[in-house]
Amino acid sequence: MASLTVLCLLPILILLSCINIKAECFDFNFTDFQEENRKDLLLTENSTIFRDALQITPDLSGDVKYTPGRAYYAKKFKLWDRKKRRLASFNTTFVINISNKNSPEVGEGLAFVLSADSDVPNGSFGQWLGLVNATTNGTSRAGIVGVEFDTRKSYEQDPDGNHLGLDINSCYSIEQRSLSGYGVNLSVGVDVLAVVQYDGKNMTVFVSNRNQKRSQVPVLSVPINLSLFLPETVHVGFSASTGEFQELNCVRAWEFHGEDMGEDSNLLWVWIFIPILALGMVLGLGFYIHWRSRRSRKDDPEKAFQNIEDHIKSSTAPRRFKLRELKRETNNFNHKNKLGKGGFGTVYKGIWKEQEIAVKRVSKKSHQGSQEFIAEVTTIGSLNHKNLVKLIGWCYENKELLLVYEYMMNGSLDKFIFYDEKTVKNDEPNQPNLSWETRLIIIQGVAEALDYLHNGCERRVLHRDVKCSNIMLDSEFNARLGDFGLARTIQQREKTHHSTIEIAGTPGYMAPETFLISRATVETDVYSYGVLLLEVVCGRKLGNQSELNNYNNSIVNWLWEYHRKEKITYAVDSNLEGDFVEKEVESALILGLACCHPNPHFRPSMKNVLVVLTGEADPPQVPLERPSFVWPALPPAFSHSDYSSTSTQFSTFSEVDGR
Ligand SMILES: *[C@@H]1O[C@H](CO)[C@@H](O)[C@H](O)[C@H]1NC(C)=O
Ligand SMILES: *[C@@H]1O[C@H](CO)[C@@H](O)[C@H](O)[C@H]1NC(C)=O
Ligand SMILES: *[C@@H]1O[C@H](CO)[C@@H](O)[C@H](O)[C@H]1NC(C)=O
Ligand SMILES: *[C@@H]1O[C@H](CO)[C@@H](O)[C@H](O)[C@H]1NC(C)=O
Ligand SMILES: *[C@@H]1O[C@H](CO)[C@@H](O)[C@H](O)[C@H]1NC(C)=O
Ligand SMILES: *[C@@H]1O[C@H](CO)[C@@H](O)[C@H](O)[C@H]1NC(C)=O
Ligand SMILES: *[C@@H]1O[C@H](CO)[C@@H](O)[C@H](O)[C@H]1NC(C)=O
Ligand SMILES: *[C@@H]1O[C@H](CO)[C@@H](O)[C@H](O)[C@H]1NC(C)=O
Ligand SMILES: *[C@@H]1O[C@H](CO)[C@@H](O)[C@H](O)[C@H]1NC(C)=O
Ligand SMILES: *[C@@H]1O[C@H](CO)[C@@H](O)[C@H](O)[C@H]1NC(C)=O
Repeated sequence: MASLTVLCLLPILILLSCINIKAECFDFNFTDFQEENRKDLLLTENSTIFRDALQITPDLSGDVKYTPGRAYYAKKFKLWDRKKRRLASFNTTFVINISNKNSPEVGEGLAFVLSADSDVPNGSFGQWLGLVNATTNGTSRAGIVGVEFDTRKSYEQDPDGNHLGLDINSCYSIEQRSLSGYGVNLSVGVDVLAVVQYDGKNMTVFVSNRNQKRSQVPVLSVPINLSLFLPETVHVGFSASTGEFQELNCVRAWEFHGEDMGEDSNLLWVWIFIPILALGMVLGLGFYIHWRSRRSRKDDPEKAFQNIEDHIKSSTAPRRFKLRELKRETNNFNHKNKLGKGGFGTVYKGIWKEQEIAVKRVSKKSHQGSQEFIAEVTTIGSLNHKNLVKLIGWCYENKELLLVYEYMMNGSLDKFIFYDEKTVKNDEPNQPNLSWETRLIIIQGVAEALDYLHNGCERRVLHRDVKCSNIMLDSEFNARLGDFGLARTIQQREKTHHSTIEIAGTPGYMAPETFLISRATVETDVYSYGVLLLEVVCGRKLGNQSELNNYNNSIVNWLWEYHRKEKITYAVDSNLEGDFVEKEVESALILGLACCHPNPHFRPSMKNVLVVLTGEADPPQVPLERPSFVWPALPPAFSHSDYSSTSTQFSTFSEVDGR
């Protein structure tokens, strides 16, 4: 009965701890700033606390010209939630005081900011307000949204030297208002009180002199979806800069109230989870007792397999083999029958019912348990496409896992593409050179297979490990994509021993965002396909294995250089000896680069890839400069507001769809 008491108490304890979490909001209130507040703040090099205020640019004691600065609250604020597709609301009130130091004029100003980075960019003094510099101005790389209090007319668009503006990744405001009509003069050394409110939709700003009644009329109210420009968690604080005039930019008080995004889901979770937990425990106890009493009867996992097998007794589904059969067919895994060793085990050739088969013996250490694995086998076994290696069957016995595939006469593609590399052993026969026509058929075949996996079959399948060594060639040199899905299931298990984050894939073929999102997507498959395409056309791999992890040392980077010089066809495999259709090669290479676009939103779908490869459409336009990798990546529809230089390319490309 003691256990029953625990059962009842546990949910209550969990509930109590969750209520504690709820009380923790993102709130703070600095009525002034003292040295002891430094631990709660994040100040850049030239920002400091002085005279009870936050001096965003240098205080009176130093040279105050041409310096940017930023000051943030130390903790980051959760601004939005990708899963919940929701933005947090916040309210902040602050008092600023901008004045001149022995100088006839003032400049440049101060801004309240939400920012991805905590650093102030190099060269962001003067007109840039510490927000951006000449490189990051107007690009999503800046990752900053600010409400500027500008004390100088720096640009044509600025209404005057006393205005408020909303800035997105730029010091050019998308909206601005002169403050002169609101009885406020920013740069005369008086305390100005500002309130910035965001309700998840609109950003609203009120400004007034501190000692006067608060204004009820907003100076600015702009609808803005902050999740389009900023990452999920951001730094909140201030940015300011000085130029040729000696300005002091200080914040004297600052109060912030942010909605806690975690809160409601926590409670929801508790309310759903507790009853389930309690019920589960009671049921679990019952089942345990029941199970113990009849345990002796049957080996459980074995029974589970039987069940799965019974469910999929269709003629095309992979067949379950007996270990005994496979031993016989491969001559007891004789080394003479060995076809190769790769990924997760050794492959042997065998003959079954007069059909040549390839039997992959998965190394024992790479799999434990098997329910999930068998489920995967059955899903994949139901796939049927001329460019996929057909899984004939499987076997799981004595903790030994075997997969039976069609035999592919010409082995894997990498042997043909990288044949002159040192890795090819001397005793292996020299492989024939693949002609351009064959290469084109191969990359088309792989594209068809991927299109089928992504769009053509009942349940979308991501391959996750597209690379030359996973492409098999049949007797007519048609490409057959192998190891789909299974690679993941097996690799996942292997990885969990070392790390909690699953990053499956092969260095050099992995899209740059893989490391940030830690999962595969349709777009990461497209990226790997792009690398494969480039390798097949150029007949080479770049860098050694460890260097391949480096984003800049990839075949993509190498090729983009050729593209920049507008000599992309120079990169083609010299073994082709010029025997190819220049237009086709160029189109394929550009398509490959498009697939490897750093922004996943700009990569074409496999459908579009196919249309280009068959010559029905031109390849998408690809910028001459390789765009830098920016995360979060903005979808093309929003790039008009972020002034991205690539914004027009997608629109030209999406027309391909219609053809
Ligand atoms: C912040 O502190 C000031 C001074 O103690 C107080 O007047 C103000 O109400 C506080 N703000 C909030 C929201 O508690
Ligand atoms: C801080 O100010 C000094 C002197 O003006 C300058 O050399 C330095 O670059 C500034 N640091 C930053 C991060 O701007
Ligand atoms: C912000 O202020 C508005 C209006 O005063 C209020 O309705 C809202 O709840 C506040 N939001 C937060 C997060 O404090
Ligand atoms: C602008 O800032 C970025 C990031 O801080 C830096 O890489 C770049 O060199 C800077 N550009 C200039 C012109 O200072
Ligand atoms: C900024 O410039 C300084 C000196 O030129 C350099 O040491 C530093 O690495 C630069 N920082 C960034 C982020 O580019
Ligand atoms: C800064 O970026 C804006 C776009 O946000 C652009 O209009 C402006 O010309 C850029 N300014 C400079 C000086 O590069
Ligand atoms: C703000 O104050 C300065 C200094 O007194 C004055 O020169 C300027 O005209 C004022 N600006 C406005 C818009 O009132
Ligand atoms: C604003 O700052 C200036 C310079 O630090 C100071 O002289 C002035 O007294 C401040 N204003 C108020 C209202 O404290
Ligand atoms: C947001 O601003 C727009 C335009 O200023 C206004 O029409 C709308 O009512 C505002 N929405 C909210 C929720 O305040
Ligand atoms: C903001 O943009 C995201 C991403 O496109 C979208 O999912 C969300 O619905 C938008 N939110 C609002 C309030 O418009």
